[in-house]
Amino acid sequence: MKIAVYPGSFDPVTLGHYDIIERTSKIFDKVILGVLNNRAKSPLFSAGERVNMLKEVTASLPNVEVQSFEGLLIDFVRQNGAAIIVRGLRAITDFEYELQLAQTNRVIAPEVDTIFLTTNLKYSYLSSSIVKEIAEYDGDISEFLHPAIAARVREKLKERG
Ligand code: PNS
Repeated sequence: MKIAVYPGSFDPVTLGHYDIIERTSKIFDKVILGVLNNRAKSPLFSAGERVNMLKEVTASLPNVEVQSFEGLLIDFVRQNGAAIIVRGLRAITDFEYELQLAQTNRVIAPEVDTIFLTTNLKYSYLSSSIVKEIAEYDGDISEFLHPAIAARVREKLKERG
């Protein structure tokens, strides 16, 4: 069985992420979305909330699973019996960081490869951080997020005041 891990912060999952998830689910037998639970970062949503949001938007993709992880991505990949990491590339600006990540992971675990899917052009400008910034200033985020996720972002920002 070919298992791939698509890791990320997913804070929150955008339509750009979803596009990569959907395409990856057609290539592999099983796709595990790994939500990074990084105590050093202060995300808008807790890891549990991010996992639940991903589960909600991927409910119609039967070979997609969602888990959170702490620590090294490579350990998470190995624990799940996967040999492939999937990342999306939006533009050349992503390349340097992604190359560094992939090369480092390959040194730590030579049996694991990283593959890149180029983001749909429609979402090539999109990032969770920009979406959060637009929402903070009461801008319209409905173009960028699944409707249920957009509602969660608005609720969360209201709670935070
Ligand atoms: O969505 P993001 O924030 O760009 O995802 C980054 C992620 C989660 C892929 C990366 O930060 C990661 O793999 N973190 C886990 C810690 C780790 O393994 N670091 C060493 C890899 S160089």
